[in-house]
Amino acid sequence: MTQEELFKKLIAHCKEYGFIFPSSEIYDGLSAVYDYGQLGVELKNNIKTYWWDSMTKLHDNIVGIDAAIFMHPRVWEASGHVGAFNDPLIDNKDSKKRYRADVLIEDWIAKQDEKIEKECAKAAKRFGESFDKEMFVQTNGRVLEIKARRDEVNQRMADALNANDLAAVRQIILDCEIVCPISGSRNWTEVRQFNLMFSTQMGSVAEGANTVYLRPETAQGIFVNFLNVQKTGRMKIPFGIAQIGKAFRNEIVARQFIFRMREFEQMEMQFFVRPGEEMMWWNKWKETRMSWHRALGFGDENYRFHDHEKLAHYANAATDVEFNFPFGFKEVEGIHSRTDYDLGRHQQYSGKKIQYFDPETGESYVPYVVETSIGVDRMVLQVLSAAYKEEQLENGESRTVLSIPAPLAPVKVAVLPLVKKDGLQEIAMDLVHKLKFSHNVQYDEKDSIGKRYRRQDAIGTPFCVTVDHQTKEDGTVTIRERDTMKQYRVRIEELEAIVADKVGMRRLFEKLV
Ligand code: GAP
Repeated sequence: MTQEELFKKLIAHCKEYGFIFPSSEIYDGLSAVYDYGQLGVELKNNIKTYWWDSMTKLHDNIVGIDAAIFMHPRVWEASGHVGAFNDPLIDNKDSKKRYRADVLIEDWIAKQDEKIEKECAKAAKRFGESFDKEMFVQTNGRVLEIKARRDEVNQRMADALNANDLAAVRQIILDCEIVCPISGSRNWTEVRQFNLMFSTQMGSVAEGANTVYLRPETAQGIFVNFLNVQKTGRMKIPFGIAQIGKAFRNEIVARQFIFRMREFEQMEMQFFVRPGEEMMWWNKWKETRMSWHRALGFGDENYRFHDHEKLAHYANAATDVEFNFPFGFKEVEGIHSRTDYDLGRHQQYSGKKIQYFDPETGESYVPYVVETSIGVDRMVLQVLSAAYKEEQLENGESRTVLSIPAPLAPVKVAVLPLVKKDGLQEIAMDLVHKLKFSHNVQYDEKDSIGKRYRRQDAIGTPFCVTVDHQTKEDGTVTIRERDTMKQYRVRIEELEAIVADKVGMRRLFEKLV
């Protein structure tokens, strides 16, 4: 199965089992907007808890807030979003399709990487065991040629975007002979900037309408509350403010399911530090955040950093944590050194002094900021794409299983009476009533036990507990583990503690400290 086929299957699976639905589906959906179903919302909430608790409980100098989505319009002028939160767009005159010019070039660059990989694969076949990939990449003429061209285009793109030189961006598209994937032609318009913020009106028009924006990032809600939190929380630098909330962007290239949406959710933390210490903190947060991802056990090789060549208008250093999705390595999280740009601009635009008196140095200053910003939806996609498996079993059957880490799984335990008689249902229901105070539990008595296991595998339930006739004799039940399919008996009194130990977040948190 190709990665593309696997991704299509995952999307279908998400719908079939109540994880994710297209928004307003009965009206044919709304492009790049999705709804979370009964299991999707549980997974999403667990991801949020993993992030929130790791920030606010494991760090005694980080607190959380929940700011409003609507903010004073001046906020977005101060932050630079009104002027600079743009995507460079280009249209193909034949297909009438619109593209992000930088994405067209990035796709071209990705193709060069694929070409290099193909050359390596061919050589590996030719040389067999003695093949040294590193050496090959450094010395093979064809690979060096592709790499040099790739690097040159990458640099040209970074320079053109940094200089806001849209004609130069277009020239790269022409020079690389990039064609429209629909029409196959190179009949391109000029490149122009398009602001990504959604706007609406607050108050009735008659009373004097006021344009407000749907926030494109949650971060600004933190910056404008810096003094409120610092003073009321008696926070001392370095300290952080965390927030989870919706953000909105009028994305032009909306694709790859919930990877790029128009309405999405962010988990952002702004860490306020002394000027001059930001690089040290930036490196520290890179490490901390990478550990958070890796603790989920999806394989260290599936993560990498990608340092930015084109920096956002507020940053002096930035990196992405990329995950190996079925469509390749893509950004899940950004770690940005935002300097004193945001607080400084809010100070300037609001006319209010936004400074911190440092009792250790006796100085007042505008703090510098290191931000960690991760998309909840991209995390959901990361978890689902890493977890989705189709397995061939020894008995010739197959199963689809979501190996979601137990602390994130939507349903923790399924309680299954082996048969619908002899009082087994009553014992099983009793168990459900005991476990439901601590865990999300499902009860299922329909169909054969094998079919019920498959249903739970497909939604990622880590444990099935079966009540059978032996339960009546000795008070034990069978636990069946999702990933190994191993089964063992435990006493009913021990069940709650065994499950709690395996599904609690504690095991994840212990890897982080
Ligand atoms: N406050 C900084 C900021 O917003 P960003 O790199 O634009 O930085 C941070 O976004 C994260 O938000 C991304 O790494 C991604 O996970 C998520 N994100 C951004 N745009 C998104 C979109 N259109 N759909 C889903 N997630 C998105």
